[in-house]
Amino acid sequence: MSEIDHETVPVPAAAKERAACSLADYEAMYRRSIDDPEGFWAEQAQRLDWFRDPRTIANWSYDPVDIRWFEDGSLNICHNAVDRHVAAGNGDTVALIFEPDDPQGEVRRLTYADLRRETIRMANTLKKMGVAKGDRVTIYMPMIPEGAIAMLACARIGAVHSVIFGGFSPDAIAGRIEDCASDWIVTADEGLRGSKTVPLKANVDAALEKAPVKAALVVRHTGADVAMTEGRDHWYHELSQGVAEDCPCEEMKAEDPLFILYTSGSTGKPKGVLHTVGGYAVWTETTFRYVFDYRPGEVYWCTADIGWVTGHSYIVYGPLQNGATALMFEGVPNWPDHDRFWAVCAKHKVNIFYTAPTAIRALMREGTAHVRKHDLSSLRLLGTVGEPINPEAWRWYHDNVGRGETPVVDTWWQTETGGIMITTLPGAHPMKPGSAGRPFFGVCPELVDGDGQVLEGAASGNLCIARSWPGQARTVYGDHERFVQTYFSTYRGKYFTGDGCRRDEDGYYWITGRVDDVINVSGHRMGTAEVESALVLHPKVAEAAVVGFPHDIKGQGIYCYVTLNAGEEPSDDLAAELRQWVRKEIGPIATPDHLHFTPALPKTRSGKIMRRILRKIAENDYGSLGDTSTLADPSLVDGLIEGRLNR
Ligand code: WTA
Repeated sequence: MSEIDHETVPVPAAAKERAACSLADYEAMYRRSIDDPEGFWAEQAQRLDWFRDPRTIANWSYDPVDIRWFEDGSLNICHNAVDRHVAAGNGDTVALIFEPDDPQGEVRRLTYADLRRETIRMANTLKKMGVAKGDRVTIYMPMIPEGAIAMLACARIGAVHSVIFGGFSPDAIAGRIEDCASDWIVTADEGLRGSKTVPLKANVDAALEKAPVKAALVVRHTGADVAMTEGRDHWYHELSQGVAEDCPCEEMKAEDPLFILYTSGSTGKPKGVLHTVGGYAVWTETTFRYVFDYRPGEVYWCTADIGWVTGHSYIVYGPLQNGATALMFEGVPNWPDHDRFWAVCAKHKVNIFYTAPTAIRALMREGTAHVRKHDLSSLRLLGTVGEPINPEAWRWYHDNVGRGETPVVDTWWQTETGGIMITTLPGAHPMKPGSAGRPFFGVCPELVDGDGQVLEGAASGNLCIARSWPGQARTVYGDHERFVQTYFSTYRGKYFTGDGCRRDEDGYYWITGRVDDVINVSGHRMGTAEVESALVLHPKVAEAAVVGFPHDIKGQGIYCYVTLNAGEEPSDDLAAELRQWVRKEIGPIATPDHLHFTPALPKTRSGKIMRRILRKIAENDYGSLGDTSTLADPSLVDGLIEGRLNR
């Protein structure tokens, strides 16, 4: 073992004992999933209800790019997530526990029977508005059950949902509505986060001025007095009056679209990643089942927002297809105090807890007293997702939240992968803090060097996936060429993840972070190009270059180099104004940490911005700036370093 792999944490005895999947089972199942993928996935797919069983299991190619799974089968994922459990006699099992922002507020518990009734009500209301199979429905909601219900209702009637995170700005909403030509939007009056209100309906109104829709459905949540546009806006509680109490689940072909989710790439506007029904259903059902090893009666909590893929796959579709009880939390980790997560775990006797490293690091800083205040003995499994976890944070999480007893699964995956790809399984794999672990069934990771050579054994390289898996995204909505270019052109015939990675002697994968111009801020993916285009829209800005830099809590922070138009003077006020500007253009998650005014950006003689140098300077790493002689003006670098040191 190399020195970086300093420790291995054995599988806890209790986890080993209860495990549905031992190490030997994992090895055998993994082998089978690679040797006989069709047989393996045909079997996994049998846990779902199909209108028509699939006979053709895998039919995909990476060159040209055409990905299909279960293509002659038909099913409905809402049926599998909701109705199936009611039909099996589990209608009284709690599906969703809603914990509101205010700890004194009302907890809601929806059984599978309730969820079925509410989903039907929403589905019939959408139909009443005119939504039909294949239509794109935008969902811009707070973290309340109606968010999940809106997604399930779309799936039920075959409409394609496009959920937008509630923290995005009106401009970001408008761009996404236009990109997928969505005629419908579901929102709420306001959201609540840490006692602050989020003006969801007002944001939608501003967005719809740029990107009109046929109708907006508004769920009443805080009861705020919001503007309603006659003929376009409908209150959900009014429009849903008198709708039928039945609504069949539409028979969907496995390759019909299920949802679009926008995500950042290294260039251009966010891409509408498209997932289809069959493969995504099987992937989220199977990964949830094996990774979380869920048992009836347990309470599972994923702290993500439904606006991100983690919320789609591991609050809604994964747990519900497994008939699990999932907690939905509206609030934030640090309000009313830094113990909120642990208070909620104790209050609802949470057994499985899944969160992001950035939250762990932020709470770690507040000390262990907040954790010790609460009885966390119900917890038996912890998980992390979204970014690499530093071993120190892993240790803190395991020792304090997990009492030093629970397994921790560090799950690596992406919006494009639909669900978990690399992870340990709780009863099977010893854990290495900082490593995501081993490939899930059917996943063939490859490390590739700059020349496209596949590296064997212990090695570091760019992480590719050599073969398709059922949960894989099928295309970028409306732009298949962009899908091909982004993921399949760097290494022909392979899916390129955009992540760098190391594999150790034991076959464990250590994700080292993005190797492209995407940064990961608090587990949220952001394209540096998006922040740059927002900045240059400001009338005083001439040019901008944005890079990531290491940040203790957020993982990466946003560092912006800005040059101003002739005649404009840098000032603290202008810096504050630009920060505000980016928040307005994209949303609070894109707020720059540092604005660095510079008279010019370092460029090559052919005019290309030398991002490598800008990155190093933002990282305070001046020793390895590399060759600066190709710069048009090498003297610029000293000024940039001085500017960096002064902040
Ligand atoms: C990063 C989130 C290290 C990675 C599910 C990936 C991780 C990007 C991990 C996808 C992890 C996600 N360890 N890095 N366990 N999980 N990432 O699309 O860089 O929002 O490419 O999906 O997050 O982010 P996305």
